Amino acid sequence: RETPVALQEDGSYVISTYRELADILHNPHLSSDVRNLSHPMEAFERSGTPAFINLDPPEHDRLRRMAMRHFGPPHTPGLVAGLEPDLTATVGSLIDDFAGKERVDIVDDFAYPFPVTVICHLLGVPREDEPRFHLWVNDIIESIDYNPKTDPKEKLTNGQQASQDLREYLGGLVEQRHGRPGDDLLSRLANDDGPDGRMTDDEIVATANLLLIAGHETTVNLITNGMLTLLRHPQVLRRLRDEPGLVVPLVEELLRYEPPVHIIPWRAAYSDITVADTVIPKGARILLMLASGSRDPNRFPEPDRFDPDRRDNQHLGFGSGIHLCFGGPMARRETQIALNELVRRLDRPRLVADPPPYRRSPVLRGPIHLHIE
Ligand code: HEM
Repeated sequence: RETPVALQEDGSYVISTYRELADILHNPHLSSDVRNLSHPMEAFERSGTPAFINLDPPEHDRLRRMAMRHFGPPHTPGLVAGLEPDLTATVGSLIDDFAGKERVDIVDDFAYPFPVTVICHLLGVPREDEPRFHLWVNDIIESIDYNPKTDPKEKLTNGQQASQDLREYLGGLVEQRHGRPGDDLLSRLANDDGPDGRMTDDEIVATANLLLIAGHETTVNLITNGMLTLLRHPQVLRRLRDEPGLVVPLVEELLRYEPPVHIIPWRAAYSDITVADTVIPKGARILLMLASGSRDPNRFPEPDRFDPDRRDNQHLGFGSGIHLCFGGPMARRETQIALNELVRRLDRPRLVADPPPYRRSPVLRGPIHLHIE
């Protein structure tokens, strides 16, 4: 309320209110290009072709458009609808495996394997290689740190190495797909001669890298945050069991109330930008506190109340503007199916620890384990 735009010690600016965030996400003077950011944490992304989340137009638009041809609207609804039987079957078999266990970890036993299985299947990445790239993805996520007080050296090394390993691994798969295309996204990207021409192998690797990380690390938190929130609101949990259709507005409310992506730390000002009477100078780094914007009392009445009946729920959970989340329809459907099945099949689930332990990431928020009995 008092400081919609705050200057940090290191010269970066933090924006935390809804109106300012919604405006700035559409501001063409804002750059997502990692090559414009001076912070050392970005060095590992700069070492290879950046993914389109870290690029500006026109490169961003070209690559997003090329990926969308296979993944996004008008393909996404079809793609997600086509996946539906697989999603339901995967969720069902993960819950079947809970049988006989006294205690279940919603993260390791469910919310992690579910979206990972789906994204591996879509991309055509062998599911059995997952334990290898799980470690790389973790190192990459942990090395995204905007805190000026953190000593960058150690994490930067881990992130850089992991990023290189993951790129090499994906590069090998892309090479195979040129020779032996299959029915998967990597094959389609590698062999597509659409109106924008072909992606280079580096661009395919960067895109696959992005989809794999995004498909890995965000939905798991939404599902886990969802289960935690339901266990903390037993009346809503009971209502969902009787009224499965409630899951649609409920997931939107989760994206507002407990969003997986708390902060976007990768923006810079192309030129001087005025936000809420503060001039942000050209070149400054800008941190977007999406989660704070989604709880802004000037936009959402009683913002700290979890209310699946909330109307006009235009949260910032998937961002906004040209970088609006590409996987939103898929993440929504995965989470809807997951929560409906969990509440339908679990008999009086009980939280073992509240609050649960949280993962170490300033960007993503979600428990690292969520044990229930
Ligand atoms: C972008 C959130 C799931 C792919 C974004 C952005 C947010 C976000 C906030 C905007 C980043 C920015 O403006 O810099 C989420 C959340 C998810 C989720 C909360 C799950 C609950 C997914 C999934 C995929 C995906 C499942 C794909 C498999 C992407 C891509 C972008 C993106 C490719 C970059 C879009 C662009 O730069 O044009 N996501 N995401 N996301 N997301 Fe997601």
